[in-house]
Amino acid sequence: MRANSFFLAASAAAIATAQDLATVLAGQESLSTLVELLGQVPNTTEFLASQEGVTLFAPNNNALATIVGSGGIFSIEEAAVDPGLIEQILRYHLYRGVIRAEDITEIPEFVSSFLNYSGIVLDGEVSGSNVTGGQVVSVSLDEEGNAIVTAGIKVPSTVTVADLEFDNGVIHIIDKLLLIPLTVSATLIAGGFTALAGAATQVDLVKPLEELSDVTIFCPNNDAFQKIASGSGDITDEQLAKILEYHVVQGTVGYSTALSNTSLPTLNGKEVEITITDDGAVFVNSARVINADVLIANGVLHVIDEVLNPARPDAQPNENDSSYPATSVGTVVPFTSGIQPETSIYSELTQTTSFVAAGLMTATPTMANAPGHASVTTSGVVMQTGNSGARNELPALAAAAMGAVVFAINV
Ligand SMILES: *[C@@H]1O[C@H](CO)[C@@H](O)[C@H](O)[C@H]1NC(C)=O
Ligand SMILES: *[C@@H]1O[C@H](CO)[C@@H](O)[C@H](O)[C@H]1NC(C)=O
Ligand SMILES: *[C@@H]1O[C@H](CO)[C@@H](O)[C@H](O)[C@H]1NC(C)=O
Ligand SMILES: *[C@@H]1O[C@H](CO)[C@@H](O)[C@H](O)[C@H]1NC(C)=O
Ligand SMILES: *[C@@H]1O[C@H](CO)[C@@H](O)[C@H](O)[C@H]1NC(C)=O
Repeated sequence: MRANSFFLAASAAAIATAQDLATVLAGQESLSTLVELLGQVPNTTEFLASQEGVTLFAPNNNALATIVGSGGIFSIEEAAVDPGLIEQILRYHLYRGVIRAEDITEIPEFVSSFLNYSGIVLDGEVSGSNVTGGQVVSVSLDEEGNAIVTAGIKVPSTVTVADLEFDNGVIHIIDKLLLIPLTVSATLIAGGFTALAGAATQVDLVKPLEELSDVTIFCPNNDAFQKIASGSGDITDEQLAKILEYHVVQGTVGYSTALSNTSLPTLNGKEVEITITDDGAVFVNSARVINADVLIANGVLHVIDEVLNPARPDAQPNENDSSYPATSVGTVVPFTSGIQPETSIYSELTQTTSFVAAGLMTATPTMANAPGHASVTTSGVVMQTGNSGARNELPALAAAAMGAVVFAINV
């Protein structure tokens, strides 16, 4: 085990003895905004305090500043005007099961929240949960041993104070609001996956996809669509729909830790073959998963480097594929003409990770210096603009996460 600042923080915090939720929150200076906010929504406070055997990830004052207060979307007083919205946001911070610092490892664990509502609209963007058992976050240790909670569009939040015991469970203070996962279309635009967004729009698949519960979507990136650009003009809409349906599994939310060597049925009717190699790479037929576990409102999305071909369900993983990471093979990205791309791409989504399988997260190389990587700061999410490497720092959560997807897909 590495030197672990998280556990040091944990042992210091564990000295406190169990008390009710309000008392524990009130004792933490960095939670004063949360305490003030809860004061505006007594029903939600009661709900949070009454669930037993839970873990609360309590957003600290910096985290909440992205939505409430002078730099946020509304004032503390205005929060009471839409108590339902605040309730859903806070329900996404409350998890079933008591997860203490000692339970958190380098292998991500997907834990279920009390968020159970689909149509959350924050700053014009729709997010929510149509996931049986409640929308999730992943909880894991990063390479420095910090506990990380990863939410919608892969925004990671860090535990700053762990293991505050209260009557009904445990509280960890986090430094970023947990962003409720966005709809499929909003996520595709946020990640710059405009070819899949355009193709799905062309065949009227966006709305049907968003109305499903419990999906796993394999999302070919734009480079993958470029590889088939020469043939894409000959495909009829009917064929295109069948191809896209081959990328969607319904009834299984296949978080990376749940994947194994297996076949999964797709909406197309045919199955895809999942292969996890001994070095932890995950393949879908011959396509490699290059970024796993992007949480979406109705399930999970994994980015892949090839468009899956339902006519070739037995295509084998090719670990020797010299085009990995995918290289551009043309300038035209098919299906993107009707799509208004976002100028600020959320780069955690486009980032390529070599190892994505359960148990091998420790082998994930750090991408800190890779082109296209943007880090996340306490003052907001750092966005990458286009492919130029220029970065815009957007002040509010709304701007960073929701406002990044202001261009709806034309459905
Ligand atoms: C919320 O609390 C108020 C009193 O503070 C009560 O009148 C109201 O019925 C509650 N609403 C719900 C949905 O529980
Ligand atoms: C969400 O859960 C609450 C109880 O915690 C319940 O009253 C409500 O009906 C649920 N909503 C949905 C959409 O399932
Ligand atoms: C959630 O999924 C169910 C299918 O399981 C669907 O009937 C429902 O419309 C979905 N909800 C939303 C808000 O899309
Ligand atoms: C999954 O299949 C691959 C390729 O056949 C093989 O190398 C690997 O060992 C298998 N993994 C398990 C857990 O059986
Ligand atoms: C990949 O390369 C190795 C070593 O060169 C070779 O043994 C193996 O057959 C190759 N696999 C494929 C699928 O081409």
